[in-house]
Amino acid sequence: MKHLLKLSDLTPAEIEEILNLADQLKYDQQHGIDHRYLKGKTLGMIFQKSSTRTRVSFETGMYHLGGQALFLSSRDLQIGRGEPVEDTARVLSRYLDGIMIRTFAQSEVEDLAKYGSIPIINGLTDYCHPCQVLADLMTIREHKGELKGLKMTFVGDGNNMANSLIVGGIKSGMEVAVACPAGYKPDAGIMKWAAENGTFTCTEDIAAAVKDSDVVFTDVWASMGQEEEKAEREKVFKEYQVNEEFMSLAHKDAMVQHCLPAHRGEEITAETFEKHAAEIFDEAENRLHAQKAVLVLTMGSKN
Ligand code: CP
Ligand code: NVA
Repeated sequence: MKHLLKLSDLTPAEIEEILNLADQLKYDQQHGIDHRYLKGKTLGMIFQKSSTRTRVSFETGMYHLGGQALFLSSRDLQIGRGEPVEDTARVLSRYLDGIMIRTFAQSEVEDLAKYGSIPIINGLTDYCHPCQVLADLMTIREHKGELKGLKMTFVGDGNNMANSLIVGGIKSGMEVAVACPAGYKPDAGIMKWAAENGTFTCTEDIAAAVKDSDVVFTDVWASMGQEEEKAEREKVFKEYQVNEEFMSLAHKDAMVQHCLPAHRGEEITAETFEKHAAEIFDEAENRLHAQKAVLVLTMGSKN
């Protein structure tokens, strides 16, 4: 695997390979078996948006694998003062062995890969969040045994999480349903692809979407960069809340997943969140293991 720019670039077999390696690395870490697949390697981590999980899990993952990570805030980089991505990519390729970037435009991530000569990993854009969804698939598989045939539902804004969940879910043989208000649907190209390649529905009817689900996802109503729309979005998304009433329509043993950070009382109630906290924090933990697998497969001696 050369880069991780978006899940649609990966085959189902490549996704499965990442999940299998992630499981192995998690097992090994829990049993004190160390790997130095990235000995002497450096990952640059460019952040144009805030992060808790992504930053800490990538930095820790690199350390576990014998390498190191550099936190590069766009506030301090020349990129923040207008140095072109083309130049930044070519310069950083001379120092680093890989770049993880969290930014706004997907085109910036694609351009880094185009102009640079080292692996690029997408740590979230407005368009998608592939690392998160790999961790999500890993968590569902851990809890449910297998992914194929399960029904995954996303309730809320058709944002970066919705886009990646649709692609990851369909590529893993899951049925995917999305419940979101008109005007806030996921990417049209992704929805078209999903309908052509699997069982996919998008509806404004939350109950219909959640019915018979095996796993229910939600995410914030206002993503990073949409802070000014917060008040308007609170009105639009009022009904789009994962709560016990909707969960009673899902399968009895249905999981709830949330990429975090969560806003209790908005996209999820405190009650439902706490009821499923063990699964949600497994999901957060699995960021570390899934990303270690991505790092090894892109930057390591296993590629
Ligand atoms: N879920 C996620 O990506 O979290 P951070 O924004 O804290 O990295
Ligand atoms: N949709 C959210 C995800 C945060 C991890 C955002 O982009 O802010």
